[in-house]
Amino acid sequence: MRIPFVTARQRDFSLEPLTVEDGDALFHLHREGFARPWTGSEFADLLEQDTVFGYAARAVGRGHEAPAGFVLARLVAGEAEILTIAVARSHRRLGLGWRLMDAVLRELHAQRAEALFLEVDETNAPAIALYRRLGFIQVGKRPDYYRTGGSGANGALVMRRDLR
Ligand SMILES: CC(C)(COP(=O)(O)OP(=O)(O)OC[C@H]1O[C@@H](n2cnc3c(N)ncnc32)[C@H](O)[C@@H]1OP(=O)(O)O)[C@@H](O)C(=O)NCCC(=O)NCCS
Repeated sequence: MRIPFVTARQRDFSLEPLTVEDGDALFHLHREGFARPWTGSEFADLLEQDTVFGYAARAVGRGHEAPAGFVLARLVAGEAEILTIAVARSHRRLGLGWRLMDAVLRELHAQRAEALFLEVDETNAPAIALYRRLGFIQVGKRPDYYRTGGSGANGALVMRRDLR
């Protein structure tokens, strides 16, 4: 007898706009990717703001299963920034990060935004590779921006994607 086996790569994911109710689920995802995760209420506070928007990637047909990834962005006066993005460890390298960023770029094009900025730890090779592939270029650097475990700190690259 054959046992059906569907890998995560084959499974479909849909992107849905984030809502205030997603705060706690975002906290759980965020702490997988960041040493200092934001709390559920911090996410809820952000999502209550008119200028903040984002998307969650959810497995199709899985009801209210926790999202596999999300992105949060802010748009003010034509300039946007990525506030944060995270994909569950178990679902990385499936294209979800790229799709989430693409959804933000599409929304910003629709809103006629001029540019999208972000900050990324200079040692975060996966994220930097994703952003470069999406057309971001480095426009600045903030030394000693991210505290590491001990007394040290990593610099932040400031990256920009032109939307015009
Ligand atoms: C960065 C992150 C969001 C990427 O999400 P992802 O879903 O794994 O990324 P994707 O599968 O969409 O990758 C798209 C492309 O980005 C690049 N990339 C992603 N992860 C990579 C890695 N570990 N090494 C090298 N390149 C990588 C590749 O070019 C990849 O395309 P490919 O798989 O066809 O080679 C994910 O690693 C993550 O959540 N990290 C922890 C949180 C974090 O660092 N967020 C960013 C803070 S600024």
